[in-house]
Amino acid sequence: MNVHSKTVAPQVAGGVVPALNYISADFLREEAELLWPRVWQMACREEEIARVGDFYTYDILDQSIIVVRAEEDLIKAYYNVCPHRGRTLTEGCGHTARLFCKYHGWQWKLTGENSRVIDRHEWGADLTDEDIALKEVKVDRWGGWVYINMDPDSISLEEHLAPAKMFLDPYDLGGLRYHWRKSTILPCNWKVALEAFNEGYHVQTTHNQMLRYMDDITRSYAHGRHAHFGYWEALPSGSKSRRLTNGEPTEDIRPGLLDYMEDMAATLNAGSSVQTVHAARRVMQEVPPGTPPMEVLQKFGQFIFEYCASQGAQFPAITPEQMYKAGIDWHLFPNQIMLQGPTGLLGYRARPNGMDPDSCIWDVYSLQRYAPGKEPKVEQEWSMDHEDVGFWGKILTQDYQNMAAVQKGMKSRGFTGARPNPLQEVAISNFHKSLVEFMDEGR
Ligand code: FES
Ligand SMILES: [Fe+2]
Repeated sequence: MNVHSKTVAPQVAGGVVPALNYISADFLREEAELLWPRVWQMACREEEIARVGDFYTYDILDQSIIVVRAEEDLIKAYYNVCPHRGRTLTEGCGHTARLFCKYHGWQWKLTGENSRVIDRHEWGADLTDEDIALKEVKVDRWGGWVYINMDPDSISLEEHLAPAKMFLDPYDLGGLRYHWRKSTILPCNWKVALEAFNEGYHVQTTHNQMLRYMDDITRSYAHGRHAHFGYWEALPSGSKSRRLTNGEPTEDIRPGLLDYMEDMAATLNAGSSVQTVHAARRVMQEVPPGTPPMEVLQKFGQFIFEYCASQGAQFPAITPEQMYKAGIDWHLFPNQIMLQGPTGLLGYRARPNGMDPDSCIWDVYSLQRYAPGKEPKVEQEWSMDHEDVGFWGKILTQDYQNMAAVQKGMKSRGFTGARPNPLQEVAISNFHKSLVEFMDEGR
């Protein structure tokens, strides 16, 4: 099946991504001027600001933005600064009836109007309501996420996400809730971190334990500024990789499928793990050996659906064809990545860490589909130990082992640029093409 659609941009050829895009302080400064102040970026999940008065402070480089639920169905975003003498107003997340400055006590309604200036009469007519209201930042929502954009003249979020949304909307991502969330600082450029998670080409070496139960050869496509990859040309899940079998297909995929799901649960613990392990066990018990692979996978899908229903969780109205077309991994420009599924999602976000091109703030989270009222209360956890398998799981620690080594290698006098695979790493070449184009438009 052709995964292209009429909105799909032509595939971007490999090309060379200049090393300087990852290592130069000048390039990071250009991003700080021409990318981040102009682009839609995911600030938080709606569930983090579920009640009126809940706020989340989103920081990007030297900018800080307050995202707050001002009314039941009204989310607002403001620059996190007091119009009196510039103190920041919030830090982290919390709940408040009004916004308040700890310096001289000015206050604002959640809708941004100033509600208190101590001794305001002393300014006379020199202080207008507009002067002392919080300064708004554009905000919009999609898929359960809240996005902000500092550019008042930007395109809409709808338009920005359009080429990806058409593939992802059937998953009802807004119906997912946090399962776990972890953050750290990675010793590499924010794009190096992202690019470890928007391609499947590294699996054969970095995660080579997975080849025993999956055929790992991916294909990737650009969709406007976004891109995805999937296993459209691979053997069915549960097959051994063709790299191990000289291309021979696996006759009975059932044991591989169970191994795959159990190993993922043990080494990644992403949101869909419970359902998929349960379904794969049922496949072993209820589907006879010798069943053709596509029938096995159809049963597997049916058992996942049944498990969801038995737990009272609402399975989305998505067709197998829609799931097939969506692939498994999306990179939403500029810095959001997700491995999506009908019952769970693994998400990633990278942001520059100050003006240091060699480090980034890295967030990983798992979302899951819960029965209403069964959603856990999930706290954000931090660890700076990237080798802590107990905290991160085996898969992420394997990925992290490449980060500092790539950042160091890219500074070598023997390295001029990256050469993404033209079929399997289109998300990387498209990302850099889009990044440079986007920044040029802002000049
Ligand atoms: S700086 Fe905020 S009230 Fe003075
Ligand atoms: Fe990986």
